[in-house]
Amino acid sequence: MAENPAYPVGLRLTGRKVVVLGGGQVAQRRLPTLIAAGADILLVSPEATPSVEAMADDGEITWERRPYADGDLADAWYALIATGDKEANARASAEAERNRVWCVRSDDADAATAWTPATGHSEGVTVAVLTTSARGRDPRHTAAIRDAVVEGLRDGTLVAPHHRTRTPGVALVGGGPGDPDLITVRGRRLLAEADVVIADRLGPRDLLAELPPHVEVIDAAKIPYGRFMAQEAINNALIEHAKQGKSVVRLKGGDPYVFGRGMEELQALAEAGIPCTVVPGISSSISVPGAAGIPVTHRGVAHEFTVVSGHVAPDDERSLVDWPSLAKLTGTLVILMGVDKIGKIAETLVAHGKSADTPVALIQEGTTAAQRRVDATLATVAETVRTEDVKPPAVIVIGEVVKVGPSPSA
Ligand SMILES: C[S@@+](CC[C@H](N)C(=O)[O-])C[C@H]1O[C@@H](n2cnc3c(N)ncnc32)[C@H](O)[C@@H]1O
Repeated sequence: MAENPAYPVGLRLTGRKVVVLGGGQVAQRRLPTLIAAGADILLVSPEATPSVEAMADDGEITWERRPYADGDLADAWYALIATGDKEANARASAEAERNRVWCVRSDDADAATAWTPATGHSEGVTVAVLTTSARGRDPRHTAAIRDAVVEGLRDGTLVAPHHRTRTPGVALVGGGPGDPDLITVRGRRLLAEADVVIADRLGPRDLLAELPPHVEVIDAAKIPYGRFMAQEAINNALIEHAKQGKSVVRLKGGDPYVFGRGMEELQALAEAGIPCTVVPGISSSISVPGAAGIPVTHRGVAHEFTVVSGHVAPDDERSLVDWPSLAKLTGTLVILMGVDKIGKIAETLVAHGKSADTPVALIQEGTTAAQRRVDATLATVAETVRTEDVKPPAVIVIGEVVKVGPSPSA
């Protein structure tokens, strides 16, 4: 006889009793979703995994430490039967049938009256994938379909246009250090929905090539600024495009708030009454050293790291950095925008007490195909930058952490 397909439905469980039998791996996987759904959960099981136990300790579920007994499903709306005892599972399943409680069985999908779909979430939508019949059940396949749909929606390769009205405005998106895989899921989604993208030279430039042809891509460095400062011209461009009702993404390298002038842009937009959302990004200050095998902290080696801009020399009156104090720190110094001034910086650190032998690594164009790492010490770094022709963008790491990883291949 042909098997009828399962009827898909979304259960609204807030405040409703759900009984879970068995506190093992199945319960551990399913409980967080039931908790998130607001269910009133009774777990019946002589033992539980440490994670399930923690849920009981936190008051997220009620746990009765005993085996299943007839009557446990009284007043339940839904049951998850997942004990290691097949006979108990069958008895509980029979009780569920008598009481008309929908029940999932981890040991016997055929005997169950409900199945758990493979689920994932994207932008306020739950994607749930079920096989049509018990005979055709293939949980790995349903999970793979779920992953493909959710991933596609997140990265914009699966386009599902919204029919709700989009709020025009600007998203300041931190694009990460350069590798296109290192932007956040949210950043990538906003990029896929943008009408206009104003991009910096740093960051994941490769992503721009993937944008549909109707998206206007503007190179921030090429915005003419005439009587304005370059930053003002960028602010004005953001405001103008947003005022035309467009969704604008300001794509920045790393994180918008780490030497990224993100707050200046947000303030200008706020003054113009333009809604603005900020999407954090992976800053080069941590990720670029990491990509070159350097942890910015390491147990027993560095208990702190300090991120400093080296765009002005230590003796420049515009410098806001207390270099003499930095020279006294024992942790890691990470310098951004410091290639041109590294000679003066190294000299100042040594003059104020840092050992001239302190290891230094310069990582140029980190996380991109052109990444390269050059090693030196405070004594040799100025000369090394010259002889090795190190060019911006580079992150400079100063401290013993430079030496803790396996030896670098340049
Ligand atoms: C204006 S700052 C912007 C920093 C960015 N907001 C961040 O969080 O990474 C630019 C500096 O970041 C560093 N930088 C950014 N991306 C880099 C990369 N992929 N490789 C090396 N350095 C990078 C360089 O020191 C560069 O001069």
